[in-house]
Amino acid sequence: MQEVKFVFESSEKSNVSGKCTWESPSNIALVKYWGKKEHQIPANPSISFTLSNCKTTTTLHYTKLETPSKDFQFDIFLEGEQKDDFKPKIATFLKRIAQYVPYIKDYSYKIETSNSFPHSSGIASSASGMSALALCIMSIEKELNPSLSEQEFIQKASFLSRLGSGSACRSLEGDLVCWGTHKEITGTSDLFGVKYPFEVHENFKNYQDTILLVDKGEKQVSSTVGHNLMHDHPYANNRFNQAHDNLSKLIGVFKTGDLSQFIEIVESEALTLHAMMMTSLPYFVLMKPNTLEIINEIWAFRQETGLHLCFTLDAGANVHLLYPEHEKESILAFINSKLVGYCQNGHYICDTVGFGAKQL
Ligand code: DP6
Repeated sequence: MQEVKFVFESSEKSNVSGKCTWESPSNIALVKYWGKKEHQIPANPSISFTLSNCKTTTTLHYTKLETPSKDFQFDIFLEGEQKDDFKPKIATFLKRIAQYVPYIKDYSYKIETSNSFPHSSGIASSASGMSALALCIMSIEKELNPSLSEQEFIQKASFLSRLGSGSACRSLEGDLVCWGTHKEITGTSDLFGVKYPFEVHENFKNYQDTILLVDKGEKQVSSTVGHNLMHDHPYANNRFNQAHDNLSKLIGVFKTGDLSQFIEIVESEALTLHAMMMTSLPYFVLMKPNTLEIINEIWAFRQETGLHLCFTLDAGANVHLLYPEHEKESILAFINSKLVGYCQNGHYICDTVGFGAKQL
């Protein structure tokens, strides 16, 4: 499939000004996207659970200009406060998508955005934020081209989201989304995310994700820098092959509901991601002492109770605890008695796998 499919071609012009609002969630990868080629093409396929509580709500006000602008006219507000420091990232996004949505130069914009999670929580907002904005832009396109089907709408919104932030293309639908071509998974593409198309066992319904906030500081390594570390990385090819293999194994796991194998794959993916960062040049250690304490506590708890609590990590020190809904009570008791002590100011966020973005 080629990018050209996503170029908006209608000569329709609308004089309409208006606004639209979308709410889009964050997601947590089970097989990690780490490494990319030009134009936001992933070096390997990935899969994630879509979340429900961690989300961004964005309202896009658009006003028709007399003559199309040369560059992009917009102001951005986070929780009501003007955020000029967000502008370069949004401008880069708009520049990347302009060839696919040429009508964006016909308007000026006010972007109002807010996150359900605290701003300085160390939780990345790029997936939810970029997907919410891409969906708002697609709402303008839908006005210009009402014949756009729901499927075309979502696929192009995912395509545009990817150009804002790779992982954002996995946030539009639920509850499991794949991105990146994988030979065994029908319909997968490097250009956009697709709903996982095969059977998923009851064990994974309403899967829980409790995010332990170990370090609420700014990201130590930006994702762009991080992904670039995979160029000329000594283990890159093996890592990319491993991601394909892990995704193949997960197909069986989702079918049978084998939680032990699920845990093995998910924890190995998280540790591999960090291993890649520790073995790149320059090298980084993104875990904090409390990240390791938590990992050891989880392993001891699992040994003792036989419950299916496991962890995953993004490119930072916070820990995502993943567990099945029917074990929630005992695991929450353990979090509150033991793990909360390792969180900054005792903060953690409870989330559940969800079903994707919503127009408000
Ligand atoms: C570790 O999607 O933030 O969370 O495409 O540069 O915006 P950019 O990167 P980004 O990378 C996320 C990496 C990850 C793993 C994952 O979500 O798959």
